[in-house]
Amino acid sequence: MNELDQLVDGACAAFAVAPTPAELENAKARYLGKSGQVTELLKALASLPPDEKKLRGARINEAKQQIEAALQQRRQALADAELQAQLRAEALDVTLPGRQRGVGSVHPVSRTIERIESIFASMGFDVADGPEIETDWMNFTALNNPANHPARSMQDTFYVDMKDADGMWYCLRTHTSPMQVRYARAHAERHAGAATMPEIRVIAPGRTYRVDSDATHSPMFHQCEGLWIGENVSFKDLKAVFTDFCRRFFESDDLQLRFRPSFFPFTEPSAEIDIAFSSGPLQGKWLEVAGSGQVHPNVVRNYGLDPERYIGFAFGMGPDRLTMLRYGVSDLRLFFEGDLRFLSQFR
Ligand code: PHE
Repeated sequence: MNELDQLVDGACAAFAVAPTPAELENAKARYLGKSGQVTELLKALASLPPDEKKLRGARINEAKQQIEAALQQRRQALADAELQAQLRAEALDVTLPGRQRGVGSVHPVSRTIERIESIFASMGFDVADGPEIETDWMNFTALNNPANHPARSMQDTFYVDMKDADGMWYCLRTHTSPMQVRYARAHAERHAGAATMPEIRVIAPGRTYRVDSDATHSPMFHQCEGLWIGENVSFKDLKAVFTDFCRRFFESDDLQLRFRPSFFPFTEPSAEIDIAFSSGPLQGKWLEVAGSGQVHPNVVRNYGLDPERYIGFAFGMGPDRLTMLRYGVSDLRLFFEGDLRFLSQFR
């Protein structure tokens, strides 16, 4: 094997073992670089006589081309390997099952509120919404519950560190009853001056707050107010409407209702409404579901209406309680803890 063949073999071997493109370029420099072995041989041609120079020059060039070809081949091989490695690293396994996307559901209390709304809507009631941070006047005074009246202590509440236009602390509403006043006043204003006013028929569900916390009381809870005011709306209508509602809500035609005399400053007479199931684990037990009564004349006046002309009833019920009864839940707090093991049972 002559000297040039050895040179070519040596270059090919060096290229073949170069593990990275950088090391391949180093190996290339040893042969083809400025002072590489091939370059040195070509420089040495200068001192040869012309005919020898031509012959040797041609043979060196041939060796050089072989080395360049080997270099090119190795470059390609390394680039291919790199691409393969990259593809492997970025591989997508299209057979992998997709990540589960959680399917949400309507909260059981929201579901109850939706049921209440649709039943009352079918009886011609509007659905209204109002503020949870309420003025003292709306929450108490307008409802015939003046400052310092002992009935206020039935609804101990949270106050907001801010005073309203009357210089009273804002409070978190203790019931949805201020919505009677807000809705009726807006209604009365809208029809002011007209010879006749359409009846007020509304429910107002929403969050309410009291300083209370145990298995059946939560500092935040829900209420749904109801109000029907007209020129000839009586306690009899309250009994009919609420009985119809309860029987439809619990899907039981023989559900019993009891209107038990009670006291609220804003109704007179007032009644607490109890229900009794005709079957099931709670059969025959009286369970309180709402407060109600004929709206007190002072309150009708605060609606901006003449109590000599307008009369009607109001009620306030607890959707949380209704949900517990409907689904047999014994601890109210479960509704507000956000535990999916509980909530997913209502899907
Ligand atoms: N607001 C009363 C309560 O929270 C319930 C009620 C509403 C009573 C309307 C009578 C009329 O206890």
